[in-house]
Amino acid sequence: METACPPEERRAFAMAANAIREEEKAHLARELHDELAQSLTALKMDTIWVRDNTTAGSKSVTAKLTEMVEMLDRTVAATRRMAADLRPLLLDDLGLVPAIEWLASKFTQRCGVPCTFSINEELKLELQEPYATAVFRIVQESLNNVAKHADAMHVVVTLQKTLDVVTLVVQDDGCGFLTNSGRKPQSLGIMGLRERAQLLGGSTSVKSAPGQGTRIEVRIPLQRTGSIR
Ligand SMILES: Nc1ncnc2c1ncn2[C@@H]1O[C@H](COP(=O)(O)OP(=O)(O)OP(=O)(O)O)[C@@H](O)[C@H]1O
Ligand SMILES: [Mg+2]
Repeated sequence: METACPPEERRAFAMAANAIREEEKAHLARELHDELAQSLTALKMDTIWVRDNTTAGSKSVTAKLTEMVEMLDRTVAATRRMAADLRPLLLDDLGLVPAIEWLASKFTQRCGVPCTFSINEELKLELQEPYATAVFRIVQESLNNVAKHADAMHVVVTLQKTLDVVTLVVQDDGCGFLTNSGRKPQSLGIMGLRERAQLLGGSTSVKSAPGQGTRIEVRIPLQRTGSIR
């Protein structure tokens, strides 16, 4: 007779699967950044060398080599962009706060909307995994939503940590939406961020109304014992 998997076990399994997915993304991002982008950069330097040292070369050869250098520049930029979209290496190298600062400035660059990010003192001590990745992904999706749907003038991201809980708020002053009008079948973002918080025992509240902006608040309890703190 089959026995149902207890909820605690299911949650542990989902958390482990999530951690593996994030590790794979981090590995791929590192390979793209450190291997592919570096080799392409070296190839570009060599191409410049050939162009500049071609003696009595024809004009068309020089022009072709210049085109190759430009193409390599674009490919390096695309590779770096792909690596950063997969997982910003900042998150692993410098931690959550610089990674969110980077997200906020990328958001402002992309859609021209100022984004203020503030933290409390406790966060200077950083947040460990799996909390850091969860918070990062939630900010990422929330800012994507602001860029895609809100038509906002300003966004505020606030991250606070106490001994037992981390609280994240992303608030915009944009067009807002009806939260009780049911989920569109293709809309997975808010559901995904709720799931991330839930997996860590947290909760999410989405407050919005037409013309009133949108406020997403996520609270995640921090485990007191164990290495994930
Ligand atoms: N900040 C916001 N301002 C205005 N409307 C929003 C905002 N965030 C979400 N919405 C509305 O809520 C809907 C659901 O958002 P959700 O992130 O779940 O899906 P999506 O952004 O449409 O698609 P996906 O995230 O799967 O690419 C959006 O389609 C949009 O109508
Ligand atoms: Mg979305």
